[in-house]
Amino acid sequence: MAKTVLVSGGAGFIGSHVTVELISAGYDVVVADNMSNCDMTCFEGVKKITGREDLPLVKMDFCDAEAVEELFTTYKIDAVIHFAGFKAVGESVYEPLKYYGNNLTSFINVIETSRRHGCENILFSSSATVYGEPDKSPVTEKSPRKPATSPYGNTKQICEDILRDSVKAYPEIKGIALRYFNPIGAHPSALIGELPRGVPNNLVPYITQTAAGIRECLSIYGNDYPTPDGTCLRDYIDITDLAKAHVYAVRRMLEGKMEEEYEIFNIGTGKPVSVMELVTAFQKANGIKLNYKFAPRRAGDVTAIWADPSLANKKLGWKAERTIEETLKSAWDWQLHLDKTLGRK
Ligand code: UD1
Repeated sequence: MAKTVLVSGGAGFIGSHVTVELISAGYDVVVADNMSNCDMTCFEGVKKITGREDLPLVKMDFCDAEAVEELFTTYKIDAVIHFAGFKAVGESVYEPLKYYGNNLTSFINVIETSRRHGCENILFSSSATVYGEPDKSPVTEKSPRKPATSPYGNTKQICEDILRDSVKAYPEIKGIALRYFNPIGAHPSALIGELPRGVPNNLVPYITQTAAGIRECLSIYGNDYPTPDGTCLRDYIDITDLAKAHVYAVRRMLEGKMEEEYEIFNIGTGKPVSVMELVTAFQKANGIKLNYKFAPRRAGDVTAIWADPSLANKKLGWKAERTIEETLKSAWDWQLHLDKTLGRK
């Protein structure tokens, strides 16, 4: 019988792509989301892509322990992938209690309820933000975690610690943390993708909205960094590639292949790309001329960070495959799809 994976926060950007990949790998999926940062667009898209009209969506808040209990009573869950959480770096600085309250409480409820219901496998969606400004890149999983520069980043570190300490204390559970670098792009079908609310903070949504004429001009934050072209270096990972990493990680857990009760994997390409290179690649991939200008550095940005993904390559058997051009084309296709459905074009 197919194993059932609970995807908390599964109606959002990353969760919806992960749901698609889990279903195509043969898993049963239960999506649960409080819909606080998304609408039904991606969930409807997932149903269309997978042909699973009966895909369950439970609208609930993971901070509500009773609702989590009811969810685990209704469904026999074999593994949980926990995405439900707030993720706006800037907002977390102004509303730290909202971030600590939501992100920690929801995860504690997930772990506690999993234990009680005999669900052994917990996968946490962590972030490269836990490395802060690294002394050198590429970073490995053994590179030191630096003090977080925002409450959001701190919740990622604390949730990793909660998982690490829990699996040590409670032998009935095990955990994996996947540290994402910069997830970008959209599903090749253009039916699911990133849906930023208001003015995007992240680079690629800002680029696609500028190309679509929704924003006037992209500001490239800083061209005086100590990098080859003066702009920051990041490791941009295709969202479908990233989603597939979850399938490999879940399989590793469910098949009893973990070597320790708590494992961490970097999920990135291993290739540094500068902001300028990304802008150029977007223009080339889509035959578009983008309006951009150089602007002062953005507070809190690190100069350069990219992954050493060799542990995930070796232990999970996973590797990033899509080219940056394919990914940036998918990001633009998604923007066009949105503009069409929203009647903007
Ligand atoms: C941020 C978060 C990270 C999160 C990621 C994806 C931190 C410090 N960073 O990463 O945790 O996983 O978003 O949601 O917690 N840029 C511009 N112009 C823009 C927007 C961005 O030049 O309009 C530049 C930035 O200065 C940066 C690069 O593009 O150099 C990437 O920025 P962004 O997409 O916001 O991601 P990060 O800040 O790397």
